[in-house]
Amino acid sequence: MTEKKVILDLDTGVDDALALAYAIANPTIDLIGVISSYGNNTQVQTTENSLKLIDLFKEDIPVYPGANHPSGVDDFQVMPVSKQIHGDNGIANLTLPIPTHSPAPLAGSDFLIQAVHQYGKNLTYIPTGPLTNLAIALKKDPEIANLIGHITLMGGALTVEGNVTEAAEANIYQDPEAANIVFTAGFPLTMVGLDVTLRTLLTKKETAKWRRLGSRASKFYADLTDFYIDAYADLDIDKQGCALHDPLAVSVAIDPTFISTISLPMKVVTKGDNYGRTIGDKSRLMNKTDVAEVATNVDAERFLNSFMDEMTNFLVNF
Ligand code: RIB
Ligand code: CA
Repeated sequence: MTEKKVILDLDTGVDDALALAYAIANPTIDLIGVISSYGNNTQVQTTENSLKLIDLFKEDIPVYPGANHPSGVDDFQVMPVSKQIHGDNGIANLTLPIPTHSPAPLAGSDFLIQAVHQYGKNLTYIPTGPLTNLAIALKKDPEIANLIGHITLMGGALTVEGNVTEAAEANIYQDPEAANIVFTAGFPLTMVGLDVTLRTLLTKKETAKWRRLGSRASKFYADLTDFYIDAYADLDIDKQGCALHDPLAVSVAIDPTFISTISLPMKVVTKGDNYGRTIGDKSRLMNKTDVAEVATNVDAERFLNSFMDEMTNFLVNF
């Protein structure tokens, strides 16, 4: 089985934590590093969360510190709703031991550039938070747009409303300027947005299955996800279960047949009422090259079965 070299760029976050476990569990992924981002919490907190989760799985994957604020401003405040959905610490207010590793001594954007030059087309980059790190890397080294294998990002909303405003999804809303740079740079890119992720719901029936496995990690992930499911119900996002936003991006990176897509040159609105909206760029409609694959539908049942199989077989071991 050929392994893909993969980098996750996470704002860890409950669904980022699910995506991390799912990526580690997947035998076709060689996770060479995690880059952290501000987003669901501060960059310092999301870095710590990723390090703790990697310890939980007895892995030795480096975590490279990424941006701690959006482009064009000097600071970052966690949105109150992020704390409601992910907890004050990003991982449902649960505690894990102090990490055994420190963050790696290299900026996330520099690690990404190095990895692109080392692995080229065999490298897949999966950002599931704001796109600030990727925009910084591109500014430092524009060649990466031609060299990288693929980018499969969780973010945006093409055919449905946003989840922060009518127009904007959270990861894009955090830094629309960075997202617009990424969408217009010519990267080979797949956008996995709310159009599809809101159709992938995990319920307490599934988390109960994890809890019954009885391992430390399976109980931790059941509690983590139940907090997120409760927040979805309390905030009236969905009463049935929680959306698997970030895990779906990982899944699609490995098997694009989980989704159907429309090929479209994309841009992000950076001003006005539609601030943060991801939309087709009329001025580039005739372009053949810088076209994104934008997910419009998902085989949710097949994805959920695959997600549950991988996670259940994995969590029981830790
Ligand atoms: O809009 C959903 C996205 O925003 C997910 O990636 C979630 O973790 C938050 O970052
Ligand atoms: Ca995320």
